[in-house]
Amino acid sequence: MGALAALLLLAGLLAALAYVLRLVHSLLWVPHRLERRLRRQGIRGPPRSLISGNGADLGALLAAAKSTPLASFHHAVVGRVAPYYRVWPARYGWPFVFWLGPRARLVVTGPEVAKAVLTDSTGAFDKSTTAGSNPQARQLIGEGLVGLSGETWAHHRRVISPAFNMERVKGWIPEISAIVSSMLDKWEVQGETRTEFEIDVHKEFHTLGGDVLSCVAFGSCYEEGKRIFQLQEEQTELVILAIRTFYFPGFRFIPTKKNQRRHSLNQEIRKSLRKLIEINGTKCEDSKNLLGLMLSASKTDNEFKMGIEEIIDECKTFYFAGKETTANLLTWATLLLALHKEWQDKVRNEVYQVCGKYKHPNADHLSSLKIVNMVLKETLRLYPPAVFVNRTAIRDVKLGKLDIPAGTQVNVPIIDIHHDVDIWGANAEEFDPSRFADGKSYHLGAYFPFGIGPAICVGQNLAMVEAKLALAMVLQRFAFDVSPSYVHAPMMVMTLQPQYGAQVLVRKI
Ligand code: HEM
Repeated sequence: MGALAALLLLAGLLAALAYVLRLVHSLLWVPHRLERRLRRQGIRGPPRSLISGNGADLGALLAAAKSTPLASFHHAVVGRVAPYYRVWPARYGWPFVFWLGPRARLVVTGPEVAKAVLTDSTGAFDKSTTAGSNPQARQLIGEGLVGLSGETWAHHRRVISPAFNMERVKGWIPEISAIVSSMLDKWEVQGETRTEFEIDVHKEFHTLGGDVLSCVAFGSCYEEGKRIFQLQEEQTELVILAIRTFYFPGFRFIPTKKNQRRHSLNQEIRKSLRKLIEINGTKCEDSKNLLGLMLSASKTDNEFKMGIEEIIDECKTFYFAGKETTANLLTWATLLLALHKEWQDKVRNEVYQVCGKYKHPNADHLSSLKIVNMVLKETLRLYPPAVFVNRTAIRDVKLGKLDIPAGTQVNVPIIDIHHDVDIWGANAEEFDPSRFADGKSYHLGAYFPFGIGPAICVGQNLAMVEAKLALAMVLQRFAFDVSPSYVHAPMMVMTLQPQYGAQVLVRKI
C-alpha cells in the first residue's frame, strides 16, 4: 500500500514537473528566442513584462485615448482609435513588435507586405483572430468562420459562401427595404410635429443590422434574436477584457465572478440559438438562406456535413460579424454626410435622379448609385469597422527584408494604411469621396476594408447592398445635420464605433 502511494506520489510529481517545464518552455524560452531573432533585424518595441507582455501598456494607452474626446469633428482618428499605431512607431519605428503574454504581435506596414501576408497561398500564415489561443476570447465568435482555420475553415467557407453571393443578396432587397422603411416610419412618428429632432443613428442602425441579419440569414425576426444580441453585447465586453489580459492555462475553470458570468452567458446564448434553430429550421431548409444551407449540410453524409454545434457556432459568428460592422459603416457614413453637407446634397440629388423621391431602390437602381458607392467607400477608408486583421506565421517566413519567425502573430493595421499620406496624398485625413470616382481603384494592399485573399469578408455583398439601400432611403426622406450634443470620439470595441453615440438632427423632407 505504502509503495503504491509512493509510486502515485512520484507519478504526480513527475507530471507536475513536466507541466512546469512545458510552461517554462512556452512562456519563457520560446518568446525569448523569438524576441532575439526580431531584435537582430532591428525590430523593436516597448519593453515587455515576462508574463503579461505589454498587455498593461496597451490597456493604459487605450484608456488614455478613450478618456478624452477629439477636440473637433475631424478624421485624423488613428491616434485615438489605435494609439499604439502612433505612439510605438514614433519611438521604435516600423515595423514594431509588442507582446500579449508570451505571444509576439508584429505590426507591419505598407501595401506590399499587407498584400503578401493576406493573399499568401503557400500556407505560411494561419488565419488566426485576436482571440488566438485564449479560450475565453474565443467564446464570442465560437468556432465559426472568423475564428476557424485550416481544413475546418475551408469546409465551412464552402458551405456558407453561396448564402451571400450577389444574386441571392439581390433577391433580399425587397425584404431589406421593407425593414428600412419601417425604421424610417418610426423616425417620423418619433419626430411628431417637430420640424427637426434628434436621433442617435448608431442605435438605430444597430437595430436595423440585427433585423436585416435575422430575416435574411436566419429567417427569423429580430425580436427572437434580440435577447441573443443583448447577451452577445455583454459577452463582447468580457471578451475584450480577456484579450487584453494574459491567459494562464486552465484559468477559465477557476470560479471567479467574471468566469462564472462568461460561462452562464455562453450557455444561455447557445441555448437561445438552439431554440431559434428549432423554430426556424423547417421554415429555412427549403430556402437558400444561411441557416437553410447549413441545415441541409447537416443532413448530408459527405465532406460538407455540419453538426448542430458547428451551426450554432456559425450563427454566433454571423450575429456578431454581420450586425456590428454594417451598422458602424452606416453610422459613420451618416455622420460624415451630416458634417459634409455638400456631399449630402450631391448624394441626395443622385438618389432622386436614379429612383425618385418615393420609390424603394431596386437592384438596378443600386448599381446606378455611383456617388452613394463613392461615399461608402470613402467612409470605409477613414472609419474601417474592422481596424486590423491578424495572421500567425506557422513556419519561418521571409517577406522581402523581413524574417518572420514561426509563431509570430502578424498584425496588418487596416486603419493605419487607410490613413497613410504616402498612399492617399496630403489630404489623406480628409473626407473626399471623389478619390473613388469613375471606379478608380487602388493597390490591393492599400485599400481593403473587407480584407483580401481567401478569407475576404464573406458578407461583403450583403453589407454593401444593405448600406446603399439604407443610406439612399434615409436621404429620400430626411435631411440631417450633426447635433450639437454629438461628441466625436471614435473608439474600437471589437469594431470601430462612436463612444458616445451618433446624434444627428433630422428634418423630414
Ligand atoms: C461594412 C461591413 C463589413 C466589414 C467592413 C467587414 C470586414 C471584414 C474583414 C476585414 C474581415 C476579415 C478578413 C480577413 O481575415 O482577411 C471579415 C471577415 C468576415 N466577415 Fe465581414 N465585414 C463586414 C460585414 C459582414 C457581414 C454583413 C457579414 C455576415 C453577414 C460578415 C461576416 C464575416 C465573416 C463570417 C468573416 C470571416 C470570413 C472568413 O474567415 O472566411 N461581415 N469581414
